[in-house]
Amino acid sequence: MKHLLSTADLSKDEAVLLLDTSAQMAATQSREIKKLPTLRGRTVVNLFFEDSTRTRISFETAAKRLSADVINFSAKGSSVSKGESLKDTALTLHAMGADAVVVRHWASGAPYQLANAGWLDAAVLNAGDGTHQHPTQALLDAYTIRRHLAGRGGGLHAGAPDGVGADLAGLKVAIVGDVLHSRVARANVALLHTLGAQVTLVAPPTLVPVGVEAWPCQVSYDLDATLDGWRPDAVMMLRVQRERMSGGAGAFFPSTLEYTRYYGLDARRLGMLDDHAIVMHPGPMNRGLEISAEAADSDRAVIVEQVANGVAVRMAALYLLMAGDTSAEGSDL
Ligand code: CP
Repeated sequence: MKHLLSTADLSKDEAVLLLDTSAQMAATQSREIKKLPTLRGRTVVNLFFEDSTRTRISFETAAKRLSADVINFSAKGSSVSKGESLKDTALTLHAMGADAVVVRHWASGAPYQLANAGWLDAAVLNAGDGTHQHPTQALLDAYTIRRHLAGRGGGLHAGAPDGVGADLAGLKVAIVGDVLHSRVARANVALLHTLGAQVTLVAPPTLVPVGVEAWPCQVSYDLDATLDGWRPDAVMMLRVQRERMSGGAGAFFPSTLEYTRYYGLDARRLGMLDDHAIVMHPGPMNRGLEISAEAADSDRAVIVEQVANGVAVRMAALYLLMAGDTSAEGSDL
C-alpha cells in the first residue's frame, strides 16, 4: 500500500491486516509509555480544507504516538484563502519534506489528485473527501464491530480473542439516514462487503443516491421493518448533513419532526434490537434528529469507543504506509 484513498481499493487481506495492526497498536496504548519510536524523523502533514474534530485530532494523536513530527495545516487562515491552488499547496509541502499527507477536502477526488498528479512523493491518506470516501472512519467502524461481534457471524477465525485475524462474514449492519451525502456510508459499504458482512441502507428515497442498485448492499425505506424483520447486529446512524443540502433540509424531507419519526433511533427502536446489537454513529451527532439522547447514551452505544479506536486504526494506517512493512512482526511495536 502506497496510499489510503478508498476502502474500495483494499483487498480482504489488506483490510484484515489493517484491523490486526490496529489491534497491536491498541495494545501499545494501554502501556504506561504510549509513545513508540517507529516514525521518528518522519513528517506527517494534516491538510484540512474542511472542518473536523475527531479525524484531525485522532490523526495528530496517532502520528505523535508514533514519534512523527506533525504539521497541522488548516485552509482557514492559510494562503488558500488568498487563492492558492491545491497544486501550489502540495508543492510547498513537498519542498518542506512531508513524508505523509493526511487530507480532508470538500471536493470528492482531491486526495486522488494529490496522490497521482506527481506533485508529492508522500503517502496520501484520505481523511474524508466530499461525499466520496472516508476510509479510516470505515476501518475504525469495522474494527469496533469486530471487537464486539466477531464470532457471531461465524466468519473466518471467528473464535479469536477480540476477533484478531477475523473477517466480518455473516454479520448484518444497517446504515441509516443521509446516505446521499455520506462518505462514511460509501466507505463502509465497500469495506463491510469486502469483509463479508451484509449491509442494508435505510433512508427516505430522497436521500438514496442514484445508482445505488450497483452497490453491494440492500436498500430499505422502512427502518421499523428492517429492525424488526432483518435484525441487524449493528445499527450505524448517519448524520443529517444539512450543510450539504442545497435548498435546505426541506428539499429532502418535509420536516425534521417527520424525519425523526420515520428514521430516528429513539428508545422505542432501541428496544427492538437484539441484546447483542450495537449502536454506532461516526459523529458529530445531531442529538434529537437522527439519534435521541437515550440511544446515544445507552449501554449498547459504542460511539465514544469508535473515537478511541480511531487512534489505533490511524496509527496502523500511518505505520503500514510509512514504515513500508506489511507485518508488525519483528518491528518495535
Ligand atoms: N467522523 C468524522 O469524520 O468526524 P469529524 O468530522 O469530526 O472528523
